[in-house]
This record gives sequence, C-alpha cells and structure tokens, in this order.
Amino acid sequence: MHRVAISSTGLFTPPHVITNEELVAAFNSYVDVHNETHADAIALGAQERLTHSSVEFIEKASGIQRRYVMDKAGVLDPQRMRPKFEARPDSEISMMAEIGVLACQAALDAAGKTAADVDGVLCAAANMQRPYPAMGVEIQTALGVQGYAFDMNVACSSATFALEMAVNAVRTGSARAILVVSPEITSAHLAWMDRDCHFIFGDVCTAVLVERLDLAPAGAFEVLGTRLLTTFSNNIRNNQGFMSRAEDRDPEARDQLFRQEGRKVFKEVCPMAAQHIEEHLATLSFQPADVRRFWLHQANLSMNQFITRRLLGRDATPQEAPVILDEFANTASAGSIIAFHRHHADIESGDLGVICSFGAGYSIGSVIVRRL
Ligand SMILES: CC(C)(COP(=O)(O)OP(=O)(O)OC[C@H]1O[C@@H](n2cnc3c(N)ncnc32)[C@H](O)[C@@H]1OP(=O)(O)O)[C@@H](O)C(=O)NCCC(=O)NCCS
Repeated sequence: MHRVAISSTGLFTPPHVITNEELVAAFNSYVDVHNETHADAIALGAQERLTHSSVEFIEKASGIQRRYVMDKAGVLDPQRMRPKFEARPDSEISMMAEIGVLACQAALDAAGKTAADVDGVLCAAANMQRPYPAMGVEIQTALGVQGYAFDMNVACSSATFALEMAVNAVRTGSARAILVVSPEITSAHLAWMDRDCHFIFGDVCTAVLVERLDLAPAGAFEVLGTRLLTTFSNNIRNNQGFMSRAEDRDPEARDQLFRQEGRKVFKEVCPMAAQHIEEHLATLSFQPADVRRFWLHQANLSMNQFITRRLLGRDATPQEAPVILDEFANTASAGSIIAFHRHHADIESGDLGVICSFGAGYSIGSVIVRRL
C-alpha cells in the first residue's frame, strides 16, 4: 500500500458574473410580465400570481452575493430565464470537457507535472451533458493522459466520492496519479424562474491531482482518510433523464430541473454532516479541535456555521471554515474544492484539515488531510 497525497488543485472560473441586484431585477421583470400576461387567469384563480424576489432575502437566507456563469444574457433575459449555449458539432470539444481540461491543466501546472505523470481521470459532477462517450474520456484524451477515465455523479458529493476512488487507486498501486475533475455547469439545471431557488447556483470547474506521496511535490497534503455516507431522500431531486422523452415530458416542466425542500435539507443534513465529520476524525483518533481548517461544501452560510458550531462548541472563525459561496454561490460538488484551492497556502506542515461535501442523495463525503 502506498501513502497518498493531494498534490495540487486547479480552478476554472467562468467569464460572466451575475450580482444579486442584476438577478433580482431580471427575475422581477419576468414576474411582472408573467402576472400581466396571465392577469385574467390569475383573477379567476386558475393561475398563481408570482411574487418578487429580493436581494435582502437572498443575502440573509443564503450568504450568496454573486455567482459566475457560462452565459449571462440568456439567464437575465426575462423572456428566456435560462442560459443560451450554442450546440457544438461532435467534432468540437464539448463545453464540460473544455473547462475540465483548463482546470486539470492548472492543477498539473501547480504541481509541476504533465499528463505523462497521470494514469487516470475521474470526471465527477452533479450533471453530465450527455450519457456517452464519457466527458472524462474526452478530457483524458484532450490532456494526453494514458490509462482510463470515467464519469461519476453523486450530486454535490461527486468530488469527494471521486477523491475516495482516486485515493484507493493510488493507495493500492493501480495508478500513480489520478485527476479528479468537476465541471459544474449548474446554470443549465437551475429553475431561474423559481423564486425559492433562483439565486442558489453558479458555474465553475475544479480539478484535484491525487498522487503517490513519494512522487508528490513539497507542500502536498497527505490523505489520512476518506469516508463516504449515503441515505435516500427526495428532498433534493431532479427527474430529468433519458426516459423523459418516453414519458412525454416538457423539458421545462418543474420536476425536470433542480428542486428542493430547502428547510428540510437544512434541518436533516447539517446534523448528519457534523456527526459524520466527528466520527471520521475519531477513527483516526482526532477531535474537531485538532483541525486547523474545515473546507466545507458551499451551499448556505448558515449551514456551515451550524456544522462548525456543532463540531467546535463555538462559532468558527473565517480562517477555520473559509467561505467562498458569497462569490461563487453553490457550485455543487466543486464548492469544498474551491474553498480548499483558495484557502490552503497558509496551512503549516503538520496541520490537519477536513474537506467535506454534503448534498442530494443524501450524500456526505469527507477527506482528512495533513500538510507534509
Ligand atoms: C434555500 C434556502 C436559502 C431558503 O432559505 P429559507 O430560510 O429556508 O427560506 P424559505 O424557503 O423557508 O422561505 C422563507 C420565506 O421567504 C420567502 N422567500 C423565498 N424565496 C424568496 C426570495 N427569493 N425573495 C424573497 N422572499 C423569498 C418564502 O416565500 C418564505 O415566505 P413565508 O415565510 O411568508 O412563507 C435554504 O433553505 C437553504 O439554503 N437550504 C439548504 C439547502 C441547500 O441549499 N441545498 C442545496 C443543495 S446541497
């Protein structure tokens, strides 16, 4: 068995920013047009009157201030309320693979490595733009990585679950290094016309280079342990899939996009995540107080405050549990990896950290690391 490290990370940030002010202005225009167009039906009680969103609510309820997206104009067009992407011919690299390659290349550069040092690519994300051929294989081939690749989806925990797969492959010697890449184009599955969730998501891509410790660069993070947990819940759900056309579904039908019972998710997932982290640390004879930094999933600021308060018995400082959701919003599985990417430089040799994701499934994944 080999010791395993996270050698580096890479981040692709999309070209467009949508502030809460811009988002709410577009949403409220959509609401006004909708209410005017359907005034008669609303008066008869046959159709629901829509209500304005508010910047104050969004910031107070979630902590999100803005988000990056691959396309801004389509999202902010009250007549459209979804991104507009040009369909690419099969001869061109697909969008998920394109941003995946950029994030992977950034991770390789950060570690001073090349594709020749890597034996596999796991494309781990909450949504895949097609069933096959796998985006992972497209990314692998574009990078020039030999070996194998595949796609995997565990919603917001895709990246941490893939990290366990990668760590095990390297630990057992079947690969020297694996890239875990998470292209999250969440804007394409978000119901931008639903006030309850229109502010939640943003687009991004992260990559993590998992490598044999004896091959890893100085300053890498040894992976001491990974732990995964799932338990079925309908509280975060998206029914869109290959059978939708056979069921004669409207692609814009509400259940064909992301939806959630936010309150229930909050109440159920936070205690589970805190318990999961505490139990995982205990398996290695650590306690929460031993941890220098928690790189948590980035869905909601209050969720993270709840979890760290549970763990530490007090409020965590921003250094102990850094926040990136104010800038990126919820980026599904990439959130905890962005937090790690942005906030690991000051971690000292010997210090302990925990990467933890939680989301649909429910699914929870944690990775305990110590800086070399
Ligand atoms: C989504 C989330 C931010 C909503 O916050 P919340 O405090 O639970 O808000 P609620 O949905 O209960 O709504 C509270 C009130 O604000 C209103 N409201 C909802 N969206 C609004 C908006 N955009 N603008 C203004 N008011 C809004 C609701 O109608 C409700 O009004 P009421 O009390 O009169 O019924 C929160 O539940 C959350 O983050 N949950 C965690 C789950 C998560 O993010 N999961 C993602 C996948 S991991």
